[in-house]
Amino acid sequence: PTTINESAIETSFEYIHSRLPEEFKSVKLGIICGTGLGTLVETIDPATKHEFHYGDIPGFSPSKVIGHASKLVFGHLGDARTPTVFMVGRFHYYEGHTMQQCTLPVRVMKLLGVETLIVTNAAGSLNPNQKVGDLMVIHDHIFLPGLVGNHPLIGTNLNSFGTRFPSMSDAYSYRLRRLAFLAGHQVGISLDTMHEGVYCMVGGPSFETSAESRLLAQNGGDAVGMSTIPEVVVARHCGIQVLGISLMTNAVVITRGRNAKKDVLIDAGLPHDHLAHEEVERDAIVANHEEVLETGAARTADMQRLVKKIADLLVTD
Ligand code: 6GU
Repeated sequence: PTTINESAIETSFEYIHSRLPEEFKSVKLGIICGTGLGTLVETIDPATKHEFHYGDIPGFSPSKVIGHASKLVFGHLGDARTPTVFMVGRFHYYEGHTMQQCTLPVRVMKLLGVETLIVTNAAGSLNPNQKVGDLMVIHDHIFLPGLVGNHPLIGTNLNSFGTRFPSMSDAYSYRLRRLAFLAGHQVGISLDTMHEGVYCMVGGPSFETSAESRLLAQNGGDAVGMSTIPEVVVARHCGIQVLGISLMTNAVVITRGRNAKKDVLIDAGLPHDHLAHEEVERDAIVANHEEVLETGAARTADMQRLVKKIADLLVTD
């Protein structure tokens, strides 16, 4: 049941490809728009735009999360008018899709000719240097579901796409990370607000507890989210170059997670004098989806300019 075969991917591809005009029969750039970042697609010329709703594409299922549209859009991006395919809304594992269903669009992109994939997402910052609204270029990841066996490449290997045991040590292209910072500089994004770091994927849909966040942060995580890595892994399997950009939509406050006992005892009127006077640190911020959407909306213009510039630099670099 976890295995997806070549013919399912072929069927999705044929549906799309047969309906595309000549100019989009081969698209080299793919972009996956994360939560609240779907407006990236507004940067494209409406005159040549082509849209497919996921519900109409065989093999795709409609995505249902608020703040996520669900369509595949073809258009010309940036001054270079690069033919580009956008996923506006992605499939999340927590919606109940299998890892294979979540990543099928990436394989369809491969058949469509995509060589470079830009993945964006909304993420919580685990690193105090990364403030809300800052961007983080992903240079490595921790794929928690994958490490314990929820991995999109489990099952029969699709040899026509890639090898059984693909390397992930170079998953995030140095050339593309360099281009991202160059583009950021050129569009006037302060490089103090643009970082590089490790993205952790958790299964969701609940946000992390304080202890879980501490676990991730203490082990090198800079941002945490519920998406992206399955698509990256499948893209790397079939040789697509990947650039990942996370928008910090909220700060994950890492508390010490203890010393609350004295407060509890005082509150309950119980003896507490034997306990040391330590200041109690509390969870100052509780993550919520509205905050994630608001920050996405606020930084949309910057993200649009950045991605457009990256597309243009890809042509000349
Ligand atoms: Cl704090 N956690 C997770 N898992 N995903 C997020 C997030 C936090 N903020 C945005 N997406």
